[in-house]
Amino acid sequence: MQCYRTYRVLAPTAAAAAAFVLSKNTRSLRTQSEEVGALDSWKKRWDTGMTRWHQPDVYWALEKYGDDFIHKESRVLVPLCGKTVDLAYLTTKAKEVIGVEGVLQGVQEFMQENPNLQMEAVESKNGFDCFRGEKIWLLCGNFFHFGPVVAGKFDVVWDRAAMVAIKPSDREEYVQVLGSVLKPGGVLLLSGYIRPNSETTLGPPFTLNRDQVLHLFEHQPWIASVECIESVSDAFFNEAWYKRLILRWRFGGVVSEDIWVIRSKVQ
Ligand SMILES: C[S@@+](CC[C@H](N)C(=O)[O-])C[C@H]1O[C@@H](n2cnc3c(N)ncnc32)[C@H](O)[C@@H]1O
Repeated sequence: MQCYRTYRVLAPTAAAAAAFVLSKNTRSLRTQSEEVGALDSWKKRWDTGMTRWHQPDVYWALEKYGDDFIHKESRVLVPLCGKTVDLAYLTTKAKEVIGVEGVLQGVQEFMQENPNLQMEAVESKNGFDCFRGEKIWLLCGNFFHFGPVVAGKFDVVWDRAAMVAIKPSDREEYVQVLGSVLKPGGVLLLSGYIRPNSETTLGPPFTLNRDQVLHLFEHQPWIASVECIESVSDAFFNEAWYKRLILRWRFGGVVSEDIWVIRSKVQ
């Protein structure tokens, strides 16, 4: 495992602020059928049990770095959460955990697999079906419709297999949503996969390399700093050897991974 640090403190420009406003306004131009189509492909994956991204254990980077940012008063957001066991783990660390998932089956499977969280359906809010349990909310709906009116603002966002799951052309919009819900001084802890041979068009997961991360975040007026805290040359190092072999075959080589800490301005 190789470690390096890329650290940038970023200053906003007037053009950046204008781009921010523009992209917020263009969000409404997305057609309903595009949105439905996007979630349909995920529904099919859930229907057919093609949820190979799901891991039985808490994600290594959350276990390793989570405590540096999450404390007992934190509100933590997990976008595109699937049924990750990270949600349950986070309830033991934070004040409140909110997961957003577009496919109801994912939410239902999470509730079935975590009966101790005593989750139940409650009144839906702003188009999101809501499920509440012990220190946890799951909101079922399209993350591109999420915002502070739905569930307030967050100290920490944990993004594993979320930004890499959406189409690269939707990333700017995804970052706008994150920017709208992160508190001043908040932290985005982000895992980015990098496919072999600089491949950027295949996915999900789509490559999220260093240049792309810096390009996405450096012009945002709310950003204070972007830091890569760890780089792993084999993202699937903790899988059994035969699974690693299959994964390398599927991806055409070794997938690497960067772990990022992205901070919003204190004010
Ligand atoms: C690759 S999975 C990752 C799940 C989870 N982060 C994990 O680590 O197990 C991506 C998840 O995002 C959901 N998803 C995809 N697009 C979405 C959207 N626009 N809004 C909400 N959820 C979405 C999918 O249904 C899927 O469960």
